[in-house]
Amino acid sequence: MIAKAELHVHLEGTAPPELIGRIAARNGVALPPGMLAADGRFHYTNFLHFLETYDLAASVIRTAEDYRDITYEYLASVAQEGGIYVELTASPDHATAVGLSDEEHYGGIAAGIDDARRDHGIEGRIIVSAVRNYGGENAVRVAHHAAARPHPYVVGFGLAGDERVPPTEFAQAFAIAHDAGLGCSIHAGEWEGPRSIRAALELPVTRLDHGVRAIEDPKLVEEIADRGITLNTCPTSNVVLGVYPSLAEHPLPHLRAAGIRVTLGSDDPPYFGATLGGEYDVCRAQFGWDDQHLREVTTAAIDAAFCDEELRAQLRARLHEGPLAEAPAGATGPGDNGE
Ligand code: ADE
Ligand code: ZN
Repeated sequence: MIAKAELHVHLEGTAPPELIGRIAARNGVALPPGMLAADGRFHYTNFLHFLETYDLAASVIRTAEDYRDITYEYLASVAQEGGIYVELTASPDHATAVGLSDEEHYGGIAAGIDDARRDHGIEGRIIVSAVRNYGGENAVRVAHHAAARPHPYVVGFGLAGDERVPPTEFAQAFAIAHDAGLGCSIHAGEWEGPRSIRAALELPVTRLDHGVRAIEDPKLVEEIADRGITLNTCPTSNVVLGVYPSLAEHPLPHLRAAGIRVTLGSDDPPYFGATLGGEYDVCRAQFGWDDQHLREVTTAAIDAAFCDEELRAQLRARLHEGPLAEAPAGATGPGDNGE
């Protein structure tokens, strides 16, 4: 199995309905009406509705233990698919909304990371993300908060939410995070087109979350490739949310062929029926990517990770160890090409 690393996944968005139900029952809160469809899956009909449903699910997550369990269960599941590293996007805006202190929020996430490392050998770090539609001033507050390093596992700053709020509103927030030595990434080019990606590239970012609509502007594709900006793409999320009608029409192979470094992410796995391993499978089945291509995806993620150099070196060593456990019978060990 090829070692995998993920840079684009939203922590509250990793919890499936079953876990949200368990947490709600433990906290003595009713499941928010409208959150689930009749079939028990998260209910939404478009991107903005998805964000609302996400907020409903997040509203039942109330304690450090909740955050620990969500983090642990997600990392354990990724480890089963060969994951060795995940950067989890945390949202202090959501935690604050339920009255959770920073100590509880990050303490819970960190406990989940520590327990998953102990039990499953997977590493995790935290990206602190502001909600875009709460505006620039709120993002400045969140950036100050991230810059103060609420936990040693906090390594990056990001921005998610409704992309119609332009990147230009967030220059100050990104300057604060960047000056504090945090890695910076922003959602762009998912719902909005090349103009919004160009504005995002004025910020001190080394990565874009999605960024796939760059394909509509060949000069922009060239610039992203030349600057070595990494795109953290989520093909299944894009198709389920309707950014592209089908995987066959997804621009990922063209972006890669143009020399852009791409990683794979599940974004909000149970909402989209995605997993990290599933995204690797999609690229193999849909785009014909072989083991070497897929290993390059993991290499791109490790290279672009916001972790310290010591951990990056460890992750590279693990990737080059060769296939993880479950190698097919007859595999010859390290260096073997089998998935
Ligand atoms: N928050 C959670 N998932 C998101 C996505 N795919 N885009 C923007 N904001 C998000
Ligand atoms: Zn996202």
